[in-house]
Amino acid sequence: MKRIAVFTSGGDAPGMNACIRAVVRGAVYHGIEVFGIRRGYNGMINGDIFQMTSHSVSNIVQRGGTILKSARSKEFMTVEGRKKAYDQLQKFGIEGLVAIGGNGTFTGATIFYDEYGIPTVGAPGTIDNDLYGTDYTIGFDTAVNTALEAIDKIRDTADSHDRIFFIEVMGRDSGYIAIQSGIAGGAEMVMVPEVLTPISEVVNVLKQGWSRQKSSSIIVVAEGEEEGNAVEVAEKIRKQVDPDIDMRVTTLGHIQRGGIPTAYDRILASRLGLGALEGLMDGHKNEMAGVINNELVYTPFRDTIRLPKPINQDLLRMVKILSV
Ligand code: F6P
Repeated sequence: MKRIAVFTSGGDAPGMNACIRAVVRGAVYHGIEVFGIRRGYNGMINGDIFQMTSHSVSNIVQRGGTILKSARSKEFMTVEGRKKAYDQLQKFGIEGLVAIGGNGTFTGATIFYDEYGIPTVGAPGTIDNDLYGTDYTIGFDTAVNTALEAIDKIRDTADSHDRIFFIEVMGRDSGYIAIQSGIAGGAEMVMVPEVLTPISEVVNVLKQGWSRQKSSSIIVVAEGEEEGNAVEVAEKIRKQVDPDIDMRVTTLGHIQRGGIPTAYDRILASRLGLGALEGLMDGHKNEMAGVINNELVYTPFRDTIRLPKPINQDLLRMVKILSV
């Protein structure tokens, strides 16, 4: 393989730049020509493709976002869109791809390979940590730390005003950010989509706390929670407790997506970027590079897409015990 391209796709995640850097510098090291594609699959369709050098990725290891920009492409989901993308790759002589993204990105790459035979190796870039085939995804650690910083600050107000705070964190259908930020932030309860948490259980935890003179509480709610978003959960709870109890809701939103990547994310991203590139060179295709038990592994896209990534039930149990 003499010429490859790298792109970022789906939601941006802190550490994507460190990953791009590893792909580009790895390619330069191995004597392979490397191109960047801007705005994910949209850039592939529009031919927004440019040659990269070692210098193109200087001074980005510490930056959040993605210098290649990102998009969720509707056009790539169409047969016509993928044909245009193939024609552009042919024009530039690109023989293989490194895709940095999540489930949607890898689904697109799989269909594209079936139709046109262009191999892709992926690096898992999403704050949600919802991909089977890696212990952690690029950006997750930074997102957890961002959420934690917010929780710590909100705790000051919760304590000063004797309030209950419902804090909604991101994660789409995954509860990973909620569990980790909740444990680290000392939350009284964490509500995640993977486990049914009846409203009555939350009410019980709050009542038990009040009976022990606990005057403030933090409930972390994952955005995909079955009982609804944090506003809806708070409303349901208000109906079952003294209506004069002081409650507030904070939705953290996109602050969790940006920011300076943690050391952990930069190292993981560098490892996975180089792992994806070298995997592609070694003939891997339609697989994602991941790190499991500190070992670099490759998992077929079809498994990363299809198989659920279970949460650690022990951690949820721990939240209950530690909030006594
Ligand atoms: O996948 C990352 C993520 O931030 C999810 O946690 C969230 O549900 C979604 O993307 C938000 O997407 P958008 O930025 O398109 O609103």
